[in-house]
Amino acid sequence: MSITVTPASAAVGAYIDGIDIAAGVSGEDFAELRQAFTDHGVVFLRNQDVTPEQHIEFAERWSEINVNRFFGTVDGHPRIAEVRKDPDQLHAIGSRWHTDHSYDVEPAMGSILYAREVPEVGGDTMFAGQYAAYDALSDGMKDTLGRMWAHHSSRHAFGAAALATYSDEVGQKFKNAEKATQDSLHPVIIKHPLSGRPALYVNGDFTVRFDGWTDTESAPLLQQLYAHACRPEFCHRFKWEKGSMAIWDNRAVQHNAVNDYQGQFRLMHRVTLEGEKLEPFVAS
Ligand code: SIN
Repeated sequence: MSITVTPASAAVGAYIDGIDIAAGVSGEDFAELRQAFTDHGVVFLRNQDVTPEQHIEFAERWSEINVNRFFGTVDGHPRIAEVRKDPDQLHAIGSRWHTDHSYDVEPAMGSILYAREVPEVGGDTMFAGQYAAYDALSDGMKDTLGRMWAHHSSRHAFGAAALATYSDEVGQKFKNAEKATQDSLHPVIIKHPLSGRPALYVNGDFTVRFDGWTDTESAPLLQQLYAHACRPEFCHRFKWEKGSMAIWDNRAVQHNAVNDYQGQFRLMHRVTLEGEKLEPFVAS
C-alpha cells in the first residue's frame, strides 16, 4: 500500500490516505508519513481502529514515549493520557492555543491523539502553523526575535497555587502539582529539529517572559505574538470522527481544542512523544 498526502491548507496540515495502523505500516509508508509530518506540521488519519496497545506500539516507532505528569491516564495504560469531557463538565482540556510540554527543557516532539468518542457536533481541534507564522513576520521582527529567548513554565498552569484557583471540576482533571517545578528557556525562533526551518516558538499557556525582560515588559509583545501566531491564514480546523487520529509536531504547530459541545461526551487518548533540546535559528 502506498500513501497519499493531501495538504489541508497552504500553511498547515495534511490528510493521509492509505494507512491502516492496526494492519501494520510498512517501513516505506512510515517514512512517507514522517516526511508529511515534517512538511506539514500535523497529519490527519481517518477510520483507524486501534487498541491502546497498538496506539502505544505505533507511537514507539516515532520516538520514546513521554508520560504527561499532570494529566489523568487511561485505566490500565499509564502511558496514555486521557483527554475526556463528560456531558456535565464545562471545561475541556487544551481549549486554548498552546504547544504541549514547552515547559520541559527537552519539550515533547509531538502528540498522537486518537478519537474514541466524539460529540455529534463540535469538538473540533484547530491547528496553527508556526513556520507560516514566522514567514509572515517583517524582516525587522525576524531579526529582533531571532536574538531572543523566552522562559516557559508549568507552575502557573499545574502548580498547587494554580490548582487552588480552579473550580473542583477543572482541578480534579490534573494531578502531581508538586511536579510543576521545571522551567525552561527556549529560543523564540527555533530551528526545527527535523526540517531545519525557522518556526515561532512562544505559546499563551506556558511562555511567561522573555529572557532578561520582566513579566510586565514581556506581556505586550508576547500578546502580540500569540495573536499573530494563530491568524486564520495559518490555521486548519480539524473535524474529528470516531477513529480519527491526529499526529502533530509541537515544534511546528500550536493547537486549540474548541470547547463548543456542552452537554455532549468526548473521549480522546493521547500519547506524547519525547523530543529534544531546541536550538535557535540562525539566519544566513
Ligand atoms: C490537547 O491539548 O492535547 C487536547 C487536544 C484535543 O482534545 O483536541
